[in-house]
Amino acid sequence: EHTTIPHPPKRLPIVGDVLGMDRAKPNQKTLVMHERLGPIYRRTIVGMHLTFASGAEVVADINDETRFRKHVGRPIAQLRELAGDGLFTAFNGTDAWTAAHNVLMPGFTKEAMRGYHDTMSSTIAELIGSWDQRQGQPVDVTAEMSKLTIEVIGKCGFGRSFGSFDRDGVDPFIAAIQRALDYSQRSSIPLPFVGKLLGRAEARQNVEDITYLRSVVDDVIDARLQGSETHTDLLDLMLNNPDPDTGKGLDRENIRDQVITFLIAGHETTSNALSFALHLLATHPEVAAKVRAEIDAVWPDRSRPELSFDQVAKLRYTRRVIDETLRLWPAAPGYFREAIEDTTVAGGYEFKAGDWAFVLLLRLHRDPVWGADPERFDPDRFLPENIKARPGHVYRPFGTGIRSCIGRQFALHEMLLALATILHQYDVVADPDYTLEVAELLTLRPAGLKLEFRRR
Ligand code: HEM
Repeated sequence: EHTTIPHPPKRLPIVGDVLGMDRAKPNQKTLVMHERLGPIYRRTIVGMHLTFASGAEVVADINDETRFRKHVGRPIAQLRELAGDGLFTAFNGTDAWTAAHNVLMPGFTKEAMRGYHDTMSSTIAELIGSWDQRQGQPVDVTAEMSKLTIEVIGKCGFGRSFGSFDRDGVDPFIAAIQRALDYSQRSSIPLPFVGKLLGRAEARQNVEDITYLRSVVDDVIDARLQGSETHTDLLDLMLNNPDPDTGKGLDRENIRDQVITFLIAGHETTSNALSFALHLLATHPEVAAKVRAEIDAVWPDRSRPELSFDQVAKLRYTRRVIDETLRLWPAAPGYFREAIEDTTVAGGYEFKAGDWAFVLLLRLHRDPVWGADPERFDPDRFLPENIKARPGHVYRPFGTGIRSCIGRQFALHEMLLALATILHQYDVVADPDYTLEVAELLTLRPAGLKLEFRRR
């Protein structure tokens, strides 16, 4: 018994379901389409299927690792030009992915996090120092969070600062990454005629950007190889720890691809998630008060400069705020999965081997299993008893299965430390005229968000 996957009304001859595609906000548009068409639907554009899945029952099957796996979907494939065989863009089951996964896993254990803790703390202290010099002015939140996360991943990953807190504009390296990401996002929209909108000049700029990014990273690697200092960061792991399975190290080109991958994957998602969290805290003073109370309890002495690693792990309420932020506004709005073999989903929808679906977290995280008011920001949804009462697969902000996020603990530790420290030092004051607008650039982010950080 097969059920046809619904598609949008008004199908055009030849081109198909291009009506109603939204280039600026494709994920939010998809959210609306799911409300109309149900937990799974399909657009067909010049014979190509784009399937979107978001219902709890459908996703339970699509997350099943024995029947589905990560799909290197078009936006990810497009990024391969920039990130090559880096972990995020590598094809499933390749030697390149397996070797890098084995080499890098020790860089993401709890002990490794302990090693990054002091660097994270001192970087947050730098951020706060820079804010104190501009007291009373509203802060461009995503720009500031972006400085923080780029510095943290730069230092913990490769021992490099981008001087973000000392300069007015952005570092040329960061600007080149942004342009290259933007280029790859725009060239991945699967509309037949959109390719033309990207002119030759942009294509040339993109080639230049990628060449420049690679040369900067090559210099970082050369400097490391020539230096005599010892480091404990991701670059050190890649240069000095061979894959335990094969005894072989990663080659130079692959190490360069990984460095670029971590700068991309570790930076914008975390910075956007922090920005959403600060917006939600500013607009939910009762929640902010509880975060404040929790941090004050472990950090009563304001003169003592920082939190210890073990104290951060005990910030249970702040952690629920982060979990709930990533539910409502998953910075990575979804992930691609493909059928390993012919199979049936949710008792009727047919997938042939290789057929893929995009799991829209934005909608999965608002499924009816979340209750009657999924738009409400309520960190208590993540109390242990409430987590237990829900199926686990309806919350997947870090992806699913073996290709899920390697940086999850890294991001969580960094976000906990940053939010706790900021709330400890400042009152976060919302602009009463601001209403949340969510912009999309592969990731989701609050557009035009400004907040005032007032010393307590
Ligand atoms: C993969 C989300 C932070 C590195 C992923 C995936 C998601 C995700 C959804 C799966 C992608 C897919 O299935 O195609 C997030 C979110 C973050 C975050 C929401 C922050 C709030 C980080 C950080 C790092 C990182 C801090 C590095 C330090 C990676 C890498 C992969 C990945 C390397 C690919 C893993 C693989 O395929 O083996 N992330 N991420 N992420 N993430 Fe993250």
